[in-house]
Amino acid sequence: MQQPVRIAPSILSADFAKLGEEVRAIDAAGADWIHVDVMDGHFVPNITIGPAVVKALRPHTTKPLDVHLMIAPVDPYLDAFAEAGADTISIHVEAGPHTHRSLQHIRSLGKRAGVVLTPQTPAKALDYLIEAVDLVLVMSVNPGFGGQSFIESSLRKIESVRTMIDKGGYIVDLEVDGGIDATTAPRAIAAGADALVAGTATFRGGPDCYAANIRALRGS
Ligand code: DX5
Ligand code: ZN
Repeated sequence: MQQPVRIAPSILSADFAKLGEEVRAIDAAGADWIHVDVMDGHFVPNITIGPAVVKALRPHTTKPLDVHLMIAPVDPYLDAFAEAGADTISIHVEAGPHTHRSLQHIRSLGKRAGVVLTPQTPAKALDYLIEAVDLVLVMSVNPGFGGQSFIESSLRKIESVRTMIDKGGYIVDLEVDGGIDATTAPRAIAAGADALVAGTATFRGGPDCYAANIRALRGS
């Protein structure tokens, strides 16, 4: 069942020189989850942060840390992100041959397990994974960078995943990530998304604008 929308600002668009302050600001501005983009310069053509930064940010918010791993291999790092204080750990279905095993491992660490589909991957890839996850993340841009344009075909994919979740009666969040702003947010929600990642659209204008930016994404 589709839940009331949760907003997950991506700190990729924050000021990296003052990340703790930025996390406190988006928390106070009404963020539901804090989305942390981890990139390795190998699975995706960009490098960001690792478990040490997740650990450093943990005391700055009580909101769930929604950690999106764009790394391959992923298995050697799952324990480190769990220990650092991640609440949800999401991994790409394209990043390794044993996604199901990795998802089982995330749950065994007591964390919520998420699976991510890049724009090229069909919803069908979830057929035998959906029971092993707490969250599906549909990427609506190619992973690696903030500030890209929303890929329209993701809407059809969100609809397919929503149908799969509802038909099976699964308790699974359906999150969308990439190019989400006040125009694309309502379209993603109408297609069935109930969690929205937004980097550029949250951090635009600086701290004084964060609350209004988040409200605009909720459509309120
Ligand atoms: C891209 C990341 C996204 C990114 C979204 O690989 O997964 O979370 O920060 O940025 P915007 O909202 O600017 O498209
Ligand atoms: Zn992300």
